[in-house]
Amino acid sequence: MLEIEGLHAGYGDVRVLHDVTLRVDEGEIVSIVGANGAGKTTLIRAVMGTLPTTSGSVRFLGERLTGRQSHEIARLGLAQVMEGRRLFPHMTVEDNLLIGGDILRDTARQRRNLGWVYEMFPRLRERRTQLARSFSGGEQQMLAIARALMTGPKLLLLDEPSIGLAPVMVKEIFSRFPGINAEGVTILLVEQDVRRSLSLSRRGYVIEQGRVVLEGDRDFLLGNEEVKRAYLGV
Ligand SMILES: Nc1ncnc2c1ncn2[C@@H]1O[C@H](COP(=O)(O)OP(=O)(O)OP(=O)(O)O)[C@@H](O)[C@H]1O
Ligand SMILES: [Mg+2]
Repeated sequence: MLEIEGLHAGYGDVRVLHDVTLRVDEGEIVSIVGANGAGKTTLIRAVMGTLPTTSGSVRFLGERLTGRQSHEIARLGLAQVMEGRRLFPHMTVEDNLLIGGDILRDTARQRRNLGWVYEMFPRLRERRTQLARSFSGGEQQMLAIARALMTGPKLLLLDEPSIGLAPVMVKEIFSRFPGINAEGVTILLVEQDVRRSLSLSRRGYVIEQGRVVLEGDRDFLLGNEEVKRAYLGV
């Protein structure tokens, strides 16, 4: 579904990603884990075309993403939850959701997707007239995820959904991913919370200083001595 090959990217003269190759197959949950500053967000930016790539390719369902506008990418079936959520705090829950679906330019589909999202997140339906800013951090993250789902994506990219949240909220949010995945949404999860994200993934990649240093299925990575020592505090 997503094929990244030999990707190099950075900011001006600063090279961040070096020869990154990875893939996500349809139906999977895949994690990209790595420490602070490893290049995780940069990788998402390069995939979404918000950062020019120096070389390499990014393909989604066989289509090259490089050089495309974000609304085009959304229509192909790719959605992202950015680091830091970026909600509209003074707007209602429902308006935040509708804005998420706006990019489709298809009111009927937007309405259908709103119903679908409310079925997955009944709490958001109950609170649809409340302002987003009245939500706790964890609830806002949930809303940000629901908003990304408003385009009915085939692939959802999540950039550190756990950031800044209390452990109990992180647990709650991660517990929703299998359900979203079961609705036919493939998930690429970018995280610093290595144990939690690998635990619910089928496969994962470890990036360090902009390079993929290790990849494999969940059990291989969770059992790997290097991963245990560097990321799991074992
Ligand atoms: N706009 C920018 N201009 C220059 N350098 C940047 C910029 N954004 C990030 N970097 C650098 O690129 C490297 C990778 O940063 P990136 O944000 O991709 O890491 P990350 O893995 O997402 O980290 P975190 O877990 O803290 O979110 C870091 O060295 C960072 O300082
Ligand atoms: Mg980041």
